[in-house]
Amino acid sequence: LNVAVVYGGQSGEHEVSIQSAKYVLKLLKNGKYNPIPVAIDKQGRWFGDITPEKFEQNGNGGIPLLFNLTDKTLIKIEEGKQISLDIDVFFPVLHGPYGEDGSIQGMLDMLDIPYVGSEVLGSAVAMDKAVSKNILENKGFPVAPYTTFKSHTWNNKQQIIIEECEKLGYPLFIKPANLGSSVGITKAKDKKQLIESIEFALLYDHKIVVEKGLTAKEIEVSIIGNEEPIASTTGEIIPTGEFYDYEAKYIEKSSTTIPANVDDTVTNQAQKLAKEAFLALDLKGISRVDFFYEEKADKLWINEINTMPGFTPISMYPKLLIASGFTEDKLADTLVKLALK
Ligand code: ADP
Ligand code: DAL
Ligand code: MG
Repeated sequence: LNVAVVYGGQSGEHEVSIQSAKYVLKLLKNGKYNPIPVAIDKQGRWFGDITPEKFEQNGNGGIPLLFNLTDKTLIKIEEGKQISLDIDVFFPVLHGPYGEDGSIQGMLDMLDIPYVGSEVLGSAVAMDKAVSKNILENKGFPVAPYTTFKSHTWNNKQQIIIEECEKLGYPLFIKPANLGSSVGITKAKDKKQLIESIEFALLYDHKIVVEKGLTAKEIEVSIIGNEEPIASTTGEIIPTGEFYDYEAKYIEKSSTTIPANVDDTVTNQAQKLAKEAFLALDLKGISRVDFFYEEKADKLWINEINTMPGFTPISMYPKLLIASGFTEDKLADTLVKLALK
């Protein structure tokens, strides 16, 4: 099977995606697949036959690719000639907008090409922290108290928004609604920081989510499957800094513990909630569900669901499944099989 591993992309998580692709390509090199690396640069241009290692150095390069909408194929242009690439399945190892939000999924649906992961609806819903929290909350899932607003409301009714945020109580977490890897997220401890954090998050998205800050452990569960998803064991993140920000994720490399240092009842509850939330948001194939666990209150909250979780050396997704009995080979096979179902 020819598997196109698409990586890079136009979001603020471009660099993270390059790291994820290195591991996914390694996973697929198990003798059963022909993985074809496909890079998307920050301008949205597609290139074939370029490894993440090379692309990382140049930021571009490789062979230009085009979609032939008439034949529904991907073609590469080599020495002026058009060569049709016979792709059996796409693995969009893209994080954030245009990769995880239903955009590329919609394009692949129109081309009738199977792909790993959630479809348009689930991807779009899970990408947007305001929409996903709203749905989860309405379905009775525990989500931390939050408020959400758009840039035009901030410009017109700043005072009302500040009051609404302050009702939640400091510290607050201010997030762009549609991003990942902690890009654009700040913790605010007073009004001045709140205003600065909102202005900062608005650089990344026109929709903002402000959430009550919890003093809690960060617990993660990997999900694999379609209608009958399997939940992995739990993992715990121990951030290096004040919270699990971009630096702590990818530069300072926070530590992780598998399984999480929590009671079995908490583990069971997290696994159950992870599967239920995956189904509630209409997800498919792969996801990582992230939780907060407040030890004092013995309370588990769903933080967010990542429909294309990181596959970087520090990333939990593969580690949790491997700790739960999957080999790398089985992981690759299962993800491809689920895409073809
Ligand atoms: P992203 O999609 O960018 O990963 P998250 O919502 O997961 O965004 O937030 C990133 C990090 O910020 C979390 O892993 C956690 O460390 C911290 N954080 C986010 N929201 C809260 C909260 N309500 N309470 C405490 N910490 C939070
Ligand atoms: N958004 C990053 C890649 C993650 O959650 O793993
Ligand atoms: Mg997160």
